[in-house]
Parts: sequence; structure tokens; C-alpha cells
Amino acid sequence: MQFTNKELIQKIDAYKKKLSVTVVAHFYQRDEVFEMGDITGDSLELAMKTKADKAEFVVFCGVGFMGQSVKVLSPNKRVVMPKLACCAMASMIDSLQFNDSLKILNAAGIANEDILPITYINSDVGVKARVGEMGGVVCTSSNAKKIITIALEEGKKILFVPDRCLGQNIANQMGLKSCIIGDGSDLKQSDIICFDGFCSVHQLFCVDDIEFYRKKFPGILIATHPECDPAICDASDFVGSTSQLIKYITELPEDQKVAVGTEFNMVNRLRPKNTYILSSTKPECPTMNETTLNDLYLALKSIDEGEPLNEIHIDKNTQKWAKVALERMLAL
Ligand code: 13P
Ligand code: SF4
Repeated sequence: MQFTNKELIQKIDAYKKKLSVTVVAHFYQRDEVFEMGDITGDSLELAMKTKADKAEFVVFCGVGFMGQSVKVLSPNKRVVMPKLACCAMASMIDSLQFNDSLKILNAAGIANEDILPITYINSDVGVKARVGEMGGVVCTSSNAKKIITIALEEGKKILFVPDRCLGQNIANQMGLKSCIIGDGSDLKQSDIICFDGFCSVHQLFCVDDIEFYRKKFPGILIATHPECDPAICDASDFVGSTSQLIKYITELPEDQKVAVGTEFNMVNRLRPKNTYILSSTKPECPTMNETTLNDLYLALKSIDEGEPLNEIHIDKNTQKWAKVALERMLAL
């Protein structure tokens, strides 16, 4: 049976009252799903706020790595995902490819004990576990600079996975040398060695778009997410995580124009006027958009019926080491 959105919202609200459940939603979710979130935020905030939450069930509207991170940090919580949607960047590297990357560094004369791996939170739990086992740490777009600054104190080379853009953007901000595995650089000469992963959505933004907006609206500000290419971030007035972007943009004077380089759903609901999408192609994250109001309703219904859909389970060893890597981040 098909319900209207109004009916679905009523049913979801009724389940939220009846069950011990917290609905969590990332900023990139469709508007109608996002509005049902009890907890919202960027990746770091979602991980921390959900860890502190007391409900038995977490219904996570986002992508797979986010639900996995909640389960890792709070193994006793039951984590259900209305859609098992996988972030395209996170699926670019698994633990085997992580091991292959280490071998490439080893072949270039860098021993494992001289490598400190850092994984962006947008990665599979298996990669986080390998990073944890090797003494490494997780970072998010909002704390990457801080985490890398502290990590460098160990005097090791940083292997940064999976996002080459975030790794290089932070290196540029800090005046460090970086390279991408396979780009022909001498790996030994770099402080940060990045895996060649990227976000297909943030790859849509280009310098031509920035030039277009600056010509069309002199004085316009450009605000972008650090998953954009370094050429984009270097030409931006502000670079930040989703929460940092929201704060920056919503605090601008009403008549200040801004063009934003991140996912469509979030930018579209930010400000009624003077906010532009920094791309002529709609930058929608296909996997974030997979979750519908009907999926959220079905997930809650499945909990009520005692057979939760898409519940996250993680094997003990992976859980143990991924937790080490995530908790190192939270401790920092
Ligand atoms: P934030 O941590 O900034 O919310 O980013 C998550 C993400 O997937 C961006 O593409
Ligand atoms: Fe992953 Fe990119 Fe979607 Fe973020 S926008 S969830 S990095 S595919």
C-alpha cells in the first residue's frame, strides 16, 4: 500500500513515540527525511551525539560507513539503516587495497613502522580496523587538520586514505608536501601520501564555475567542502565540513551572495535568497538520496514487528580495531 508523505510522517511520528528509537539524519538527506531526524549534523557530530544517546535503536538515514561508525562506537546499540546505501568514495578502498597501498610504500623504501595511517571517516569499517591495528586514527572533514597536526608529531609519513582531495587540501593548508600513490612522485619526498580516492559528487565543481560566478556577481563569496579538488579549495573564500559551511553561510548578511560547492539537498535548504549551487550539473549524492520517507517508515515498522531490516553487524576483531581508530580521534 502506498501512503502520502503526510500519512508517512504521522506513522513515523507514532513509531518514534512508541519505540525506544532515535532517528539520525545527515545534512545530505532528502528534505522530508532530514526533517524527521532527532539528531542531525556533520559526520563528526553524528558520531559523537549518537554515542551519547540512550535509545536502544538508532535508525540511521545516511550512508553505510556512518551507520557502521555508530555501531563500532556503541556496540550495545542496535543500528538499523532504512537503506544500505554505500558512499561511492568509501567503496573505493577495502582492507586488501589498503594492504596493497602499504606494499607500494614499502617498495619505495618506507617501512610499516615509519607509516602512520589516517583514514577519513568516509571509509569501510575494515579499513578503519587496519588503520587502528597499525596505530593510526580516523579523521573527519571538520577535524582533519588537527588530527594530521598531532599525527605528524610522531615523525612518521602519513598514509591518507581514501580521499586524495581532503589529504592534499590539508597538506596545502599546512604547507606540507603531498602526493597521490601512482602519480609518479617519489613517495619518500612527501609528508602525506594519499590514496587515489575521491568523491564523485564533489568532483563536479570546477574552477570555471568559480570564474563564472565571480564575473556574474562581483563580490560573491565561494564556500566549498574539502572533498573538492585542491584547485577549487585554493580559489575559495571558505572551506569547511557540512556543519562549518552551514554556520558560515547562515551567518552571512542577508544580501551577501554565496556560491556553494557541496551536495544539493543541503545547499538548497540553507537560505531563501542569495545562495547558489557552484555547478551547472545538479550535485546530488545518489546514495544519500536513496533513503526515502517510505524506507524510514518501513525500518521503524520492522523494529516494531521484532525483525529489524538492514541491521548492522560487525565481526569482533574488526569492531575492536575500528573502535581503537575511532576512539583515538574522539580523544584528540
Ligand atoms: P561531513 O563530515 O562534512 O558531514 O561530510 C560527509 C560527506 O560525506 C561529505 O561528502
Ligand atoms: Fe560519499 Fe560523496 Fe556522497 Fe559524501 S557526497 S556520501 S563522500 S559519495
